[in-house]
Amino acid sequence: MLSIYIKIMASKKKKTSKKNSSSNKITNREVLEEIIRVDHAGEYGATKIYDGQIAIFGKNSKLGKTIQHMADQEQEHIEKFNELILEHRVRPTALLPLWNIAGFALGASTALMGEKAAMACTVAVEKVIGEHYQEQLNLLGDDHKDLKKTISKFRDDELEHHDIGIEHDAENAPGYKVMSKVIELGCKTAIAISKKV
Ligand SMILES: [Fe+2]
Ligand SMILES: [Fe+2]
Repeated sequence: MLSIYIKIMASKKKKTSKKNSSSNKITNREVLEEIIRVDHAGEYGATKIYDGQIAIFGKNSKLGKTIQHMADQEQEHIEKFNELILEHRVRPTALLPLWNIAGFALGASTALMGEKAAMACTVAVEKVIGEHYQEQLNLLGDDHKDLKKTISKFRDDELEHHDIGIEHDAENAPGYKVMSKVIELGCKTAIAISKKV
């Protein structure tokens, strides 16, 4: 559902920006740096969340295999941002050690609460990241077509992860609504800080 909504919004935005011919805009250097810095941080955090969940469920359990599929994609994402951070000479966030611990703790603690809670964590995190990637696509100009392609592919992966969480009954986790709001707020705060620090 979320992926359909975001794709509709993306195609609407495309039509509007064509009308205004703003698709030729040049990306501000500061905006580019913030995008790469925060995405690098977010993908790093995502690998740690899934590491934390796999540490609890084990790689070979049924759910562990599903999580490993998402973790493998997060690994591809972080490797790409490791390249981009060097290519564009962007300073990484100083908070990587914090996101290492916070990401693992979030993954492990939700996994300890049960399978549905772990999937509720995935749904909340991936919802925020999917929407955040969409916002970035709207900010980037045509001078960064390759980066836009990368972000658009990663957005689709994150929305797939979100949908996997929903399919695994995330919404029936105990305290789903409160937990989702707390995790979403945490992710949004981490995003705001990692852009700058
Ligand atoms: Fe990712
Ligand atoms: Fe993801």
